[in-house]
Amino acid sequence: MAIKVEVPASTSNLGAGFDTFGLALTLYNTFEVEENNQFEVEIIGEGADKLSKGDDNLFLKVYKRTCQELGIPCKPIRVVQKNNVPLGRGLGSSATAILGGIITATALGGINLTTDEVLKIAFNFESHPDNLVPALVGGFVTCAVDRDKVYFERIEFPKELQILVLIPEFEILTEEARKVLPKEVSLKDAVFNIQRATLLISALVNRDFDLLRVAVEDRLHQPFRGKLLKGFDTFKELAYSFGADAVFISGSGSTIGVFTRKNADQIGEEGVRLYREMGISAKYLVLEADEKGARWSRV
Ligand code: HSE
Repeated sequence: MAIKVEVPASTSNLGAGFDTFGLALTLYNTFEVEENNQFEVEIIGEGADKLSKGDDNLFLKVYKRTCQELGIPCKPIRVVQKNNVPLGRGLGSSATAILGGIITATALGGINLTTDEVLKIAFNFESHPDNLVPALVGGFVTCAVDRDKVYFERIEFPKELQILVLIPEFEILTEEARKVLPKEVSLKDAVFNIQRATLLISALVNRDFDLLRVAVEDRLHQPFRGKLLKGFDTFKELAYSFGADAVFISGSGSTIGVFTRKNADQIGEEGVRLYREMGISAKYLVLEADEKGARWSRV
């Protein structure tokens, strides 16, 4: 049996929703899998020269662990990973491999898991839900973790907003970007974030886009990570001066996310130019929300 699994990239946090908000994007990693007489990995695109093709390959690790957990035979497979999601840029590339591995194991094993069951396995590999959930179900999600269980709600993302991602060439590892965060925050800062996170949801649902700029401000992570992410503050001002609706760090960076109703390409080009002036190469993509989430088909 041969299958193709497609998993969307995602942006997470979106300002005040640290470890809470996530949005699936129309940018995909694809895993073309066929049964084989041994395990084999080929990687095309992002990370081809960097990612393990052996036992440490995340997709394979997850595939094998899922078979084990479900008590199904772990058939040797050959996988061609076609990666369009840049690594270490806050766009959920690990989440695509984790979900790809789980979906492959269940599809080849003829097993149907619920969303909750998929997330439970996925959580063994990544303990924040904000990339896993949108990549699995699509759309804009808000998540809450209670003990080991993830609760989430999904809303449709307004079509009027274009999603621009400005991707500098340098990586920021989530693990490192979590180390710079304070262990405790003041009540004042907690309230600041609750106000803005709830405002963001209401503004998206009610299409009150003029509120987005205030709603993506945050005091839990961006002020600290902004220091790791060269160019963030300058680009933020620049993007707003060209009419952007919201500018935020995508996940733990290094990508910067922008919601805008106008000038998306112009904002992207200005961002690339800004980084070039700093001696850093960057690219931008104008995307939409993926409303379907991870999917597979026979090939
Ligand atoms: N929310 C995580 C963080 C990244 O900002 O560290 C995505 O899992």
